[in-house]
Amino acid sequence: MGGIDLDPAFVQSEEHRPKSKVVEASGIPVIDLAEGGNELVSKIRKACEEWGFFQVINHGVPSELSQRVEIEAKKFFELSLEEKKKVKRDEMNASGYHDAEHTKNVRDWKEVFDYFVQDNAPIPSSFIDPHDFGLTTLTNQWPQNPPHFRETMEEYGREVEKLALKLLERISLSLGLAGDKFHGCFKNQLSMLRLNYYPPCPFPDLALGVGRHKDSSALTVLAQDEVGGLQVKRKSDGEWIPVKPTPNALIINVGDILQVWSNDKYESVEHRVVVNTERERLSIPFFLFPAHHVMVKPVEELVNDQNPARYREYNYGKFAATRNRSDFKKRDVENIQI
Ligand code: SIN
Ligand code: FE2
Repeated sequence: MGGIDLDPAFVQSEEHRPKSKVVEASGIPVIDLAEGGNELVSKIRKACEEWGFFQVINHGVPSELSQRVEIEAKKFFELSLEEKKKVKRDEMNASGYHDAEHTKNVRDWKEVFDYFVQDNAPIPSSFIDPHDFGLTTLTNQWPQNPPHFRETMEEYGREVEKLALKLLERISLSLGLAGDKFHGCFKNQLSMLRLNYYPPCPFPDLALGVGRHKDSSALTVLAQDEVGGLQVKRKSDGEWIPVKPTPNALIINVGDILQVWSNDKYESVEHRVVVNTERERLSIPFFLFPAHHVMVKPVEELVNDQNPARYREYNYGKFAATRNRSDFKKRDVENIQI
């Protein structure tokens, strides 16, 4: 990366380049989960309807653990490329390091390490290529260094998954559904974590850390450091709004699956990451995905004659498999819209 000229693979088309003047006013709500009760559920409903994004505080993930995660992740990305490539993600390994992620066919200015909460889980029959190699379980690749990387990431994965499932209960209540409505979809699920490392970029007007996209998860729980760079497309006017780093907060966003379940009551909103010339940045999204056998469709309670289903039923695993074959046109749930 770097050099005098920017590799054209990173150059965003003009309409997608970041503006030098960002809108300052945020408005993306910060919700205190300690509040509990109906008040909390209403705040979550409003945030999901208006933004598709909110931040949470008092979420139960210990800040001491988040700090350790940040330290271990930075130590990993500081290793030489040769070291990092010892745990390279490829057709055989869905977990590991990679540095050439593309979003909508433009290369992202970042390095990544992916892992699953459910280490050694059976590979779903619909999942990517490992079956071609005779693999039957999905095993995380862990680097030797830094020495505490594995245990730290495993602990964080378990904690953040607990939070995501609790939040999904509140979100179900906010849709007028039973809190346990979606519990059945998260047995034998595969939850994924991604460590994103964004090096400083000499061309922040041309490249993005991650190009505009929507998350294909049910729900995403994102930790970010104090640098900032995440921008959310405001539903009211399409303006890109920065999500202000807030100490000890986690960012929650509605993913494509929740959009389908809620029959568009809650939308999966576009977001992107801008980079800067000065500072490296770390962010850690956790993606809550349903089990691969789950059939996804708008929930019956939210569908009626006035408000018919906007999506046809689809099998989550099959859908994920087409997406993993990196044809970005198939990525969006728009393709299963009725
Ligand atoms: C992403 O949405 O893929 C990354 C978000 C971030 O780095 O803030
Ligand atoms: Fe995202």
